[in-house]
Amino acid sequence: MDQANRLRDIVKQRDSQLGLGKEPITARVITVTSGKGGVGKSNLTLNLAIQLRKLDKRVVIIDADLGLANIEVLTGIIPRYNFGDVVNAKMSLTAALTEGPMGIKFLSGGAGLTALANLNERQIATVINSFGKLDEISDIILIDTGAGISRNVINYVKASSETILLVTPEPTSIADAYAIMKAARKESDVIPILKIVVNLVNHYMEGIDIFERLNKVAEQFLSIQLQRLGIIPTDSCMVRAVKRQEPLATCFPTSEAMKSIENISLRLLNMEPKYNLNYTGITSFMNRLVSNFRA
Ligand SMILES: Nc1ncnc2c1ncn2[C@@H]1O[C@H](COP(=O)(O)OP(=O)(O)OP(=O)(O)O)[C@@H](O)[C@H]1O
Ligand SMILES: [Mg+2]
Repeated sequence: MDQANRLRDIVKQRDSQLGLGKEPITARVITVTSGKGGVGKSNLTLNLAIQLRKLDKRVVIIDADLGLANIEVLTGIIPRYNFGDVVNAKMSLTAALTEGPMGIKFLSGGAGLTALANLNERQIATVINSFGKLDEISDIILIDTGAGISRNVINYVKASSETILLVTPEPTSIADAYAIMKAARKESDVIPILKIVVNLVNHYMEGIDIFERLNKVAEQFLSIQLQRLGIIPTDSCMVRAVKRQEPLATCFPTSEAMKSIENISLRLLNMEPKYNLNYTGITSFMNRLVSNFRA
């Protein structure tokens, strides 16, 4: 039996033990990724989590970036435990969670997550069972991944039923996003649901244009229909929030970038976006001009 089949058996066994055979109540798992690094994944994940929390959703972030522990850096909160402690069966996954801002929780993944590949069957069963607990305590699980088409990142995209793919107007970002879509499409039995967020745009139409271009090639060459989840402007408030190690959602809740993230949270819940955003108008220009001077 290959590893994938063994995993499926373990999950089935767990579901039947929990009486979840028919209609399991499960959390939505959404992977946040990008082709190119440094395009705003961790900031989007964190602020989206807070926004979803404000909409009464219970949210857990899994920080799956193997490099810098992003969520820790952005919140200034140092977790006591990480995923490695769960793998070593020292503690349950829920006990390893860290309380983040505004009632969100996060799990520091670190190198523990790649170690999944090298676990024996008993350890895998322990880990999967402990993850099962997350279904009970959360509605939405956001996974903040590293960038790039590494095996590691593609594994997350393949495993989750929803993926948010971030792009920016930079040509390399678009090309790298396409590479991710291609890899995900090639390796998946089902057509992946990819929700696109264009970040760091100067005006709204720039974001629309990038989405349309990406969607066209995705349809033409990969038969994937992309969903446009949101467009986030370049906003100096974001830079200031990062410097302060405080989420944008708490220090600049009415900033332009935060309004876009609020719209994204509503769209994810199939609700009407609250703001009619168009970054071309003079008010929006003045907003950005003033905040740029104050940055
Ligand atoms: N909308 C925005 N406006 C202005 N600056 C932004 C915006 N989004 C992100 N940034 C800047 O980009 C930097 C990188 O953001 P972030 O750490 O979220 O990216 P990432 O994709 O998670 O990076 P990595 O691939 O290294 O994990 C931030 O520190 C911030 O300065
Ligand atoms: Mg990051």
